[in-house]
Amino acid sequence: MSKSTLTVGLIGYQFMGKAHSNAYRQVNRFFDLPYQVRMKTICGRTEPGVKNAAEVFGWEGYETDWRKVVADPEIDVIDVSTPGSSHCEIACAAAEAGKIVFCEKPIGNTLDEAERMRAAVQKSGKPSVVFHNYRHIPAVALARQMLADGRLGRVYHFRAVYLQDWIADPQFPLVWRLQRESAGSGSLGDIGSHIIDLARHLVGEFDSVCGHMETFIKERPMVGEVDDKLGAKASSEKGQVTVDDAAMLLARFKSGAVGTFEASRFAVGRKNHNRFEINAEGGSLVFNLERMNELQFYDNSDPSPEQGFRLIQTTQSDHPYAGHYWPVGHIIGYEHTFVNLVASAIEAIAAGREPFPNIEDGYQNQRVLDAVERSSASRSWINL
Ligand SMILES: NC(=O)c1ccc[n+]([C@@H]2O[C@H](COP(=O)([O-])OP(=O)(O)OC[C@H]3O[C@@H](n4cnc5c(N)ncnc54)[C@H](O)[C@@H]3O)[C@@H](O)[C@H]2O)c1
Repeated sequence: MSKSTLTVGLIGYQFMGKAHSNAYRQVNRFFDLPYQVRMKTICGRTEPGVKNAAEVFGWEGYETDWRKVVADPEIDVIDVSTPGSSHCEIACAAAEAGKIVFCEKPIGNTLDEAERMRAAVQKSGKPSVVFHNYRHIPAVALARQMLADGRLGRVYHFRAVYLQDWIADPQFPLVWRLQRESAGSGSLGDIGSHIIDLARHLVGEFDSVCGHMETFIKERPMVGEVDDKLGAKASSEKGQVTVDDAAMLLARFKSGAVGTFEASRFAVGRKNHNRFEINAEGGSLVFNLERMNELQFYDNSDPSPEQGFRLIQTTQSDHPYAGHYWPVGHIIGYEHTFVNLVASAIEAIAAGREPFPNIEDGYQNQRVLDAVERSSASRSWINL
């Protein structure tokens, strides 16, 4: 890594490829950072697609073989934004080549893969990042600050849902997210892992879990022709869905707090409804991604007849991250969660601190995912 430049190679150029590219492009425009990000290479398997992505997202060049990106001596960071089945191989190779690993969530498809990734990163001695981006929303970071400052005292409940509906149509095709060999699990790992991460960040480590996973539609049309604008179309052939459509869990935390979690891609009408509520001795906090610039706070110590939930608009310059953007009241959106995460990671790397969340967080998250799967299969509580 040269003194002033952090050179990135990004593997994957679709949904997360776009979100991460935008973060690398914007981060030095909003944050005064010790490193300038250099967007050197973006990688994907299909040349016309990745060439176009390089041009549109602003990368210097592109590759169709991730191994060439990992072998590039100019690259400091390898960002793994492919489906879960290739995370372990790419991240381990990158760590072995001495690169800083930035990886999408969940880090592996199995606990064994997550263990291998953690070991490879630890052996490299380099920092790491896992893209649980919701930690870096101003409202969530403020909630964390209030909890860490003891403003809420003992936490009793963490109650979270992450609800979508994009596969509720039984004719929706069998894309990679519905196959165990490519995705590891379904709603559990895809969206449940985010609320599990938020719980670990805000309330602490899990002690035990009792999970239930359900697959409502067991067979779907295979993916046919892929249209650049409309995405995958259904073919006339059918294939088996091998992951959960919905996952639920009860949890006990090491602190003695309890939690309930629900992750579903069958919550008809819910598009990206990621919401949590914390009930504690000193009050309650509520966050909803659909109103991501707001945090609700109920102050239990307020004796006045006006006591009630107050709405904090987290756009003041003294709110986490907010001062890097616009004047008060001028809101930010989904893409800024990635910009904030990358800014926070670069600051940590420059200061010799471990960024958060990192490979250890990814591994601890995967332990919970694994325990939920075992709990659901055995219909019993599992200790972590
Ligand atoms: N942090 C978040 O909020 C969030 C949101 C969505 C997805 N994700 C995670 O991001 C990862 C990618 O998901 P996505 O939605 O971007 O998927 P996607 O299907 O939109 O894109 C996957 C990309 O990986 C590329 N790819 C696949 N195999 C490859 C290989 N062997 N070599 C090079 N490129 C390869 C594909 O060409 C494509 O560009 C997954 O782990 C997913 O769970 C995270």
